[in-house]
Amino acid sequence: MKIGIPIEIKNNENRVGMTPAGVFELTKNSHTVYVQANAGFGSGFFDEDYQEAGAVILNSIEEVYASSDMIVKVKEPIEKEYALIKPNQVVFTYFHFASSETLTKAMIKSNAICIAYETVEDADGALPLLVPMSEVAGRMSIQQGAKYLEKPIKGRGVLLGGVPGVPPGKVLVLGAGVVGIQAAKMAAGLGAHVTIMDINMKQLRYVNDVMPNHVVTEFSSEYNIRKRIKESDLIVGGVLIKGAKAPKLITKDMLKDMRPGTVVVDVAVDQGGCFETTKATTHEDPTYMIDDVVHYCVANMPGAVPCTSTVALTNVTLPYIVNLANLGWKKACDMNPLLAKGLNIVKGEIVYEEIAEAFNWNTKVLQN
Ligand SMILES: NC(=O)c1ccc[n+]([C@@H]2O[C@H](COP(=O)([O-])OP(=O)(O)OC[C@H]3O[C@@H](n4cnc5c(N)ncnc54)[C@H](O)[C@@H]3O)[C@@H](O)[C@H]2O)c1
Repeated sequence: MKIGIPIEIKNNENRVGMTPAGVFELTKNSHTVYVQANAGFGSGFFDEDYQEAGAVILNSIEEVYASSDMIVKVKEPIEKEYALIKPNQVVFTYFHFASSETLTKAMIKSNAICIAYETVEDADGALPLLVPMSEVAGRMSIQQGAKYLEKPIKGRGVLLGGVPGVPPGKVLVLGAGVVGIQAAKMAAGLGAHVTIMDINMKQLRYVNDVMPNHVVTEFSSEYNIRKRIKESDLIVGGVLIKGAKAPKLITKDMLKDMRPGTVVVDVAVDQGGCFETTKATTHEDPTYMIDDVVHYCVANMPGAVPCTSTVALTNVTLPYIVNLANLGWKKACDMNPLLAKGLNIVKGEIVYEEIAEAFNWNTKVLQN
């Protein structure tokens, strides 16, 4: 199979869909890998590294799309790429369709086979291709939140860890999944007082078992959230309902109950966000203020630490890529129903129910 690795052209996205190690593995399996010139530069990989591993370097993004049976990326295609995608081409990347009707319509029109990293499952029903980026974003949410709590950048002016004689800051984490646990762990490491909420008691029991005593678990309900936001310095949104829009756990009217300079980091922004006031931002201009609350809602947080993120992502995507390349998408998905869960749109048809639901479309959803 011919596999194409384009440069990511989304704002400030420096990750890349494949490392030279991935190229090596695919060429060993007799596949051809086209890498766009400089595609790996932002992640610390040079064209020579890819060439040495067996890749063919192509100069333009147009050549990469035109030459390849399967495109392997990181972020969802943006408008400039829509027209480059060919009918029957496999596109394996993060799509997060539920948060963009425009993207969904464009991919239906493309007649491509869209396999979304974020809905591939493992045997436990977990999302193995979301995990590493959630780990990065969860850890980053505290790093960013701590920074934006500083007064000169409109935060409350609180040092999360406190100092001897001064109590630490308070962090509220919504969702005790991968993002939430990594956020809680980092915040606890800084010495902050952490409350972590979920509706899944199994997750809360796990967190309660493994975290230090200054990480407190609480059931997620509107009542409890309304109570906690009044005293929190930093609130991290890390909830997920698979393939669907995130529930709005913090509504606009709740902002007035927060103290001025409170920082909210909505990691779930890529699924529409779990704060009503969330709108996606970029690393260039990551924050905005509403009612004196600092909102940080960067949709591709791991893009800021590409050397870590690219390797973390490709460690987990490569076995699926090799499988798709060796067997072709149809046979690979027929043989592995958990990979087949990644099929979202196939040749103009939505095959993942939650996408149609997200837009209230009455479209018939084909079963894959
Ligand atoms: N912005 C970024 O750069 C970035 C990067 C990685 C992941 N994400 C996003 O972060 C979100 C979380 O990802 P994850 O891997 O931690 O998911 P996860 O499935 O591991 O965890 C989500 C948790 O949310 C909980 N939840 C659902 N409804 C809830 C509610 N009403 N109250 C409290 N908790 C609730 C679930 O029970 C689950 O434990 C996803 O939307 C993911 O796409 C964003």
